[in-house]
Amino acid sequence: MEPFKLKTDFLMGCATAATQIEGGDQNNSWYDWSVKRLIKDGSSCVRADDHYRLYREDAELMQSMGLEVYRMGLEFSRIEPQRGVFNEEAIEHYKDELRLLKEKGIRVLVTLHHFTNPMWFEEMGAFENMESVQIFTEYTEYVVRQFGDLCCEYVTINEPNVYAVNGFTFGEWPPAKKSVAATFRVMKNMARAHIAAYELIHRIRSQQGYAGKTMVGFANHYRVFVPYRSNNIIDKAVAGLFDRAFQGAVTDAMAWGKFSFPLGLFSRKKGDYCDYFGVNYYTRSAMRGFENTFLPGKPVNDLGWELYPEGIRLLSERFYKRYNKPIWITENGTCDHKDAFRAQYVYDHLKALSQTNAPVERYYHWTLMDNFEWLEGESARFGLVEVDYETQKRTIRRSGAFFSEIIKNKGVTE
Ligand code: NOJ
Repeated sequence: MEPFKLKTDFLMGCATAATQIEGGDQNNSWYDWSVKRLIKDGSSCVRADDHYRLYREDAELMQSMGLEVYRMGLEFSRIEPQRGVFNEEAIEHYKDELRLLKEKGIRVLVTLHHFTNPMWFEEMGAFENMESVQIFTEYTEYVVRQFGDLCCEYVTINEPNVYAVNGFTFGEWPPAKKSVAATFRVMKNMARAHIAAYELIHRIRSQQGYAGKTMVGFANHYRVFVPYRSNNIIDKAVAGLFDRAFQGAVTDAMAWGKFSFPLGLFSRKKGDYCDYFGVNYYTRSAMRGFENTFLPGKPVNDLGWELYPEGIRLLSERFYKRYNKPIWITENGTCDHKDAFRAQYVYDHLKALSQTNAPVERYYHWTLMDNFEWLEGESARFGLVEVDYETQKRTIRRSGAFFSEIIKNKGVTE
């Protein structure tokens, strides 16, 4: 294996999301979805990894793997089970988790919203409703004041583009709508909510005079879009269109307050609303007309997604050039039941990052341990650690041990 070196201040760890690992909560939109039996393998997020109870053991596990950073989510519905009613027990739980990780020397990045909504919020239309901006701000204010100096790094919203498109264009995720207009309404409100939260978090933290450097951003899902037939004008045009409509416009709105959907071409930049630029990167998409597919004959993961390590470098460079912020890879990983190619995936993506001149500062592998993969349920396995859902036993996979070695050596030495 060819060696490569990462910068000494390049920090590595894992990412997770509350609903995917915690288990136990029945007041959120994805539990509701599970009850309606809309998960492919019939599982439900109420089991997941039982991490809400096992978080101490899991923190030990992370320490044993040598993680330097950890991105974790909060369950909005646990913290605000009814509108304006905040649950102290839940916030104390998260504070305890943050303290524990701090003691272990693991720096935490907290995600405020990761796909799931409390039922009361879902029932009022969630981000399709204009009031969502105010609601998200109230929730954010409560969390940030409570956390105080226990946390200085936040992701406001995870993958607004995926949330909006899967839930409002394709109707495959809650609330199962099929409306392009609603999709853009949702993206707009999510961007407004992000900007409001961005400003609020900075305001609160500076009022309270915290020492830690506040870093706030968002984590969108990014793909490299290419034409399926390289010389076909339609495929080329559609690849360009999807790049703007799925990821470009919403990013300009969130990062700059530039609100003109669907393509974001006409309005002006209003300000700077992220301190780092978060990139969730998995794969490359090929457009055959309006069909979103993959290039033929390429290596793929268990879900059929192309393995395209070069994309992580291409996108990091492109976003650094456009937004001029340090890049944090807020997610990158693969679905590999047999752990046959995950180590190679990690190697290839980190090696690609070692070759860039863009300031890529962080890498959060998706994911620490197998978890509830939304529509796919428990069957899709993205973990560096294998989970036996019956016994909740965790076993570090070969790729997990390999990742730990990379962290320890800041690269691959031989
Ligand atoms: C991105 C999402 O943020 C995460 O929740 C999901 O599990 C991974 N992609 C893998 O699909």
